[in-house]
Amino acid sequence: MPTVTIDGIAVTVEKEQTILYAAKKAGIWIPTLCYNPSVTALAECRLCMVELDRGKYTQLVTACNYPVRRDLTVSVSSERAVRARRGVMELLLARAPESLELKVLAARMGVFGTPYPTVTESQRNCILCGLCVSVCDEVMGCSAIGFAGRGTDRAVATPFRMASDGCIACGACAVVCPVGTIQIRIHEEEGEVEISPFKSRAKLLVCEECGKKMVTEPVAKQMMDRVNINWDEFRERARLCPECRRKKTAEAAGLIASKIGAE
Ligand code: SF4
Ligand code: SF4
Ligand code: FES
Repeated sequence: MPTVTIDGIAVTVEKEQTILYAAKKAGIWIPTLCYNPSVTALAECRLCMVELDRGKYTQLVTACNYPVRRDLTVSVSSERAVRARRGVMELLLARAPESLELKVLAARMGVFGTPYPTVTESQRNCILCGLCVSVCDEVMGCSAIGFAGRGTDRAVATPFRMASDGCIACGACAVVCPVGTIQIRIHEEEGEVEISPFKSRAKLLVCEECGKKMVTEPVAKQMMDRVNINWDEFRERARLCPECRRKKTAEAAGLIASKIGAE
């Protein structure tokens, strides 16, 4: 197994593991934004840059997707690596100046503002890391969102920027968005979930007994399709939330037991 020496700490990792993995093993923190182990690393944000020693020269590489194939010497704390990551963070802060998540991470990196002009209102708060697009496609299998526009107009959007039938309002994109751009909004009166800014809405299954809101109908339907269970049959069973269903089952079991006892 190759050895990766990071800031003087040597760890061995399996071939094809990443520098980021090696750093974690060595107990060294590298900031990340677009990295998520459940999807292919696209290395879009560039925040995880480290300095790789190539013998005669050094090179900045992204730790989250750089594969370890032989012994490597890497510096996370060198002046060049720290300066590069801070520079990237300043650019990202200009893209998402209102993101609390980003400000917290920036502060941890010693960055407390940006010298760059902030972007226009319509692009604000998306760092274009692509994580939402990958999760929607690779994990949820929906491909409901993608990159649209070019240059300064580039943004994550649904096709034609309209509410998309492909979106099941699962909220996975909102959960992984590292800067909180995507929001899950609950519309109590309509019993619907909205995924903002994509304008997608879906009905929530509501427990007929206690009124508790459960999963969205399209999510439940997709799950049922995947495990090959008939949707109408499931819909009949999903009238109750798990808690009410348990209560009903317990009541029924009690009735049966008392009936048997009386006989
Ligand atoms: S909420 Fe819609 S856009 Fe987001 S991951 Fe789920 S299906 Fe994709
Ligand atoms: S919406 Fe969030 S996850 Fe998607 S590209 Fe923008 S910053 Fe990344
Ligand atoms: S976390 Fe590595 S490039 Fe974004």
